[in-house]
Amino acid sequence: MSEFIVTTKNLKKYFSSRSGTVKAVDGVNLAVRQGEIFGFLGPNGAGKTTTLRMLATLMTPTSGTINIAGFDVAKQPDEVRRHIGYVGQNGGSDRPATGVENLILQGRLYGMSHAEANERARELVKLLQLNDFADRIVYTYSGGQRRRLDVAIGIMHRPDVLFLDEPTVGLDPQNRANLWDEITKLKSQGVTIFLTTHYMEEADILSDRLTIIDEGKIVDEGTPEALKKEVGGDCIAIGVENQQDVGQKLKIAIKKEGYSTKITEESELIKIYVKDGALVVGRLMKLLDQQKVKLRTITITEPSLDDVFLQKTGYSLRDKDLDEGGQS
Ligand SMILES: Nc1ncnc2c1ncn2[C@@H]1O[C@H](COP(=O)(O)OP(=O)(O)OP(=O)(O)O)[C@@H](O)[C@H]1O
Ligand SMILES: [Mg+2]
Repeated sequence: MSEFIVTTKNLKKYFSSRSGTVKAVDGVNLAVRQGEIFGFLGPNGAGKTTTLRMLATLMTPTSGTINIAGFDVAKQPDEVRRHIGYVGQNGGSDRPATGVENLILQGRLYGMSHAEANERARELVKLLQLNDFADRIVYTYSGGQRRRLDVAIGIMHRPDVLFLDEPTVGLDPQNRANLWDEITKLKSQGVTIFLTTHYMEEADILSDRLTIIDEGKIVDEGTPEALKKEVGGDCIAIGVENQQDVGQKLKIAIKKEGYSTKITEESELIKIYVKDGALVVGRLMKLLDQQKVKLRTITITEPSLDDVFLQKTGYSLRDKDLDEGGQS
């Protein structure tokens, strides 16, 4: 098997509707490495779910090819299904049964014996920390508990790749962080995770690499760090004593050092834009010392993935989600 466990070539899905053709996915090329957490970030309506459903053999592409674990999705869907798990945007647990019963049912659907399914279910209860509620009927679960059960169902048959569509939508920050931990745990067990999200913080924290999609087309791809670096470095904001008196002279001295790409001054702050804040901050402190300027505050901020999105598309991911009724 190649280093890539999921690849797509020029993948397209067009829907025809009364108002014309919707190009939901429009020529997407993806390459997901074995064992990584791959983030698929985009605003509402970008084409994330449509792409995921095609990858998971649940929808036929208009054109293009998909290969998963060495199998062509169009020609060998059954082999592909054996290697993947899928947790849809709305989950899939069967509510009148308990969590464990749902897990066992899933195992049986994949051909496990009852004893095997029972053993695997108990293993997952431990791994995903479902102990407190696994023997309760699913409709008594909280949102976070349901999501964790959904993930357990998705990996019951030990897939190589797990597709998660917006796994943390609607969860509070505590439950979201818990689920992030569980997803990271799955990765350490060797599962490749392909996850869609419109939360840039989530994509940033979880993904080893990510692809940004907008209006069916790929906008950018890379590690979160590399994508943010592309935007052009860090901003060091300093507040100094007697800024009115020393500010001008200080700005000239900083400019002379040669590491800043831009310097701006606000009422209480001087902002110094640099390629790599961590490399510069020591030199800056030394300069302040030499100039006998007393530092009050200093912060270094990196660009966010929203800055990446903004630079590539001309609008903010946050704004776009708000426009379309998203809940970012
Ligand atoms: N069956 C369909 N018929 C017509 N249009 C569709 C169909 N399914 C999806 N679309 C359209 O395709 C586009 C992409 O939808 P998709 O569900 O893939 O977006 P998404 O990125 O998952 O968005 P969200 O973040 O809101 O879940 C949208 O414009 C959507 O309205
Ligand atoms: Mg979706």
